[in-house]
Amino acid sequence: MEIRKLQEIWKDHFNSSGEQLKKMAEVNGLISAFNANIDAVIKISGEKIEKIIDEFGLNPDHLIQDNEQSIRSVEDAIRGLIRCFRGGFAEEWLIEEKEVFEWLNKNIGYDKLQMGGQGGIVANVMATCEVGNVYVHTASSPKEQSGLFQDLPNLQNVDLNGELKKAYEIDRHEDIPLIHWIIEFDKNDKLNIGGENIVCPKSNRFIATYDPLNFSLTIDQAFHKKMSEPTKTFEYIILSGYQMLKEKLNDGRTGTERIDESILAVNEWLKNNPDSLLHFEIASTRDKVVRKYLVDKLAPKADSVGFNERELIDILEVIGEEELAGKCDKETSSSNLFEGMLKVFEYTGCSRMQLHMFGLYITLQKKGFRVTPIQNRNGMQLAANIAATKAGTGAIDSHEILLWSKDKDVSEVGLNELTALSEKVSELFGNNDLCEKGIFTDENIEIIAVPTIIIDKPITLVGMGDTISSISLVAAR
Ligand code: GLC
Repeated sequence: MEIRKLQEIWKDHFNSSGEQLKKMAEVNGLISAFNANIDAVIKISGEKIEKIIDEFGLNPDHLIQDNEQSIRSVEDAIRGLIRCFRGGFAEEWLIEEKEVFEWLNKNIGYDKLQMGGQGGIVANVMATCEVGNVYVHTASSPKEQSGLFQDLPNLQNVDLNGELKKAYEIDRHEDIPLIHWIIEFDKNDKLNIGGENIVCPKSNRFIATYDPLNFSLTIDQAFHKKMSEPTKTFEYIILSGYQMLKEKLNDGRTGTERIDESILAVNEWLKNNPDSLLHFEIASTRDKVVRKYLVDKLAPKADSVGFNERELIDILEVIGEEELAGKCDKETSSSNLFEGMLKVFEYTGCSRMQLHMFGLYITLQKKGFRVTPIQNRNGMQLAANIAATKAGTGAIDSHEILLWSKDKDVSEVGLNELTALSEKVSELFGNNDLCEKGIFTDENIEIIAVPTIIIDKPITLVGMGDTISSISLVAAR
């Protein structure tokens, strides 16, 4: 079918977004844990990168090497940035040395500070969507960070006395600020390095993180105690923040121990709310031991798992699917990625998983999962609308702005990916009308796919995945 026709059909489907948004206000409790931090966001140009290389005499040969993805020197930081710029990738690397963090602070600076960390971002989005009682966990809550939460009464955290209070007003004054550098770059921007001309294929961002508390998944005991109280009720728990863990932590503990401790905490919360839906956002987890442990231990426990295309490839790499990972890496198409999802689905046994890739969201779930296919599709459509609003306006900080993108068409890129997915599904499972309906079911599985609205010149991209995953799930009602 021609693109225009399909766009009309999808515009019709997307009409439900206003209704879905209203339904989010019926949710009366949600926990967002574990990571919140301050994001120092800066948009950087190829020209500026060249200048930095020049000014600080960085060795171009070191900057283009495909080495370990962690930051021990300034060159490592710029190397990561160039890698993402060249591939149009989104990656996060951890800064091991405080001096590098201080160097970035002094020499790169930032355009603005905003709430960061999956946990913090999800909490803000959920509160803005008027979910009742959003409880947000923070490892640290100095005033500077709390002030980046939405100033809303339904967004709560624990104060110094362990009591729930508006998150925006909390001042745990002895806590330290945790700052991450978000370096965004634009599609088609150019960078000349060592005689080679690099053209950035896709707007994206590179994150350089220095965050001693979240590096060890510090769990605030006062928050834990509150969420374990029998009177606390909630319908969703959204987990993230594991991606910064490493096999061996600087304090002698191990990443896997920290994961185990978090699972024990979540089990306590679930005791009084056993029907709560547990979602886990895997994010860009560099350490392979940690990544594997998350896939083996946490994913099977979760009702739902979320990832983007890179993160899916990363998962494939640690479950013995290196070949398929390589194929997805080479050609990051919906059909290859869908094959990857099937492998992860089988490996983890998780009931629901969602991929958010450029242009398309795909949910794969067990037949009869308690969120129906149509509820999923409606939730994903609202997610696509709000994600486009975020990209197009730069912030989703008021309820009124959330549906800013509601009259925009779904993208051609997305429809092409959807067509490719539909062909792959035909090949594997039989005929389907995914292109028009976005839903396919058989006796074992349910596939829901939604093409997204693409904003040509996005003002911001950071936190997009967190926004998409959480809205897709919580608005799926
Ligand atoms: C990671 C980064 C954080 C950013 C978030 C967005 O958690 O550490 O800085 O806000 O990703 O998804």
